[in-house]
Amino acid sequence: MEDPIIQQMLADLNLPAWHYYEEVGSTNDVALAWLEGGAPDGALVIAGSQTQGRGRLGRTWVTVPEAGLAFTLILRPDAGSPLPPERLTALGTLAVVQALERGYGLNAQIKWPNDVLITGRKVCGILVELAWADDRLQGAVLGIGINVGRAAVPPSHLLRYPATSLEEALGRPISRWEVLRQVLEAYLAWRAHLASPEFMSAWENRLAFRNEWVQIEDGLNPPLIGRLVGLSPAGHLHLHLEDGRDHWVTAGEIRPLESSFAESSGGEDA
Ligand code: BTN
Repeated sequence: MEDPIIQQMLADLNLPAWHYYEEVGSTNDVALAWLEGGAPDGALVIAGSQTQGRGRLGRTWVTVPEAGLAFTLILRPDAGSPLPPERLTALGTLAVVQALERGYGLNAQIKWPNDVLITGRKVCGILVELAWADDRLQGAVLGIGINVGRAAVPPSHLLRYPATSLEEALGRPISRWEVLRQVLEAYLAWRAHLASPEFMSAWENRLAFRNEWVQIEDGLNPPLIGRLVGLSPAGHLHLHLEDGRDHWVTAGEIRPLESSFAESSGGEDA
């Protein structure tokens, strides 16, 4: 029953192809199979709910029917636009942040590398997966999960990071498909400009915790503490350490240093 509404929302975006599933395991899995089967750049998989949704580092991502928005875009290197793998997660986070700014007047920020925050709480997570044949990039899938309705946010004891929903932030319910459209519009505007300096500065300008003291955990080493300066051209996080040295972080989990939040993510189980 959702198809006609989605059809109406997406009608003028000129997407090459899309599929809506009321329920799937993971939209990323469906998209990876479709990529393998020859899906075009810009093809889209949307799900009403997911039973095997996943996040970064093997975590579970829960998509609640009606309340969660889950979709995955397919990107191909042969589409006439550059496809720098290190910028794809940023493409997702930037598209979501701009959609929330433009569509709803929300001040959202990017929690590097793959989350979107509103008022310091996670509202969206991005999972990019690459498909290789030998050492040639076949393509990528860019999965986006957004807590639209309040019911999309799991109980707090299951959260790794405080979470919120768009409904909570706005104080009113909104349509998942309207949010989808807004994100796709922002996505399409950046897709051909991933390699541009404008993309880098739009990304950097929306980083959460800029000029603040943060802690980075990589699960292996003791937490690293520093003041967040910005991004390197490669998209690494530039920190100014306590001893005055500069340091570039390639991977890890970032938290504000003086976090008053409980140890606990959004739509995301531990
Ligand atoms: C994270 O927070 O670690 C990333 C969460 C990514 C969730 C989205 S929902 C659509 C797509 N399908 C998945 O299984 N995961 C991504």
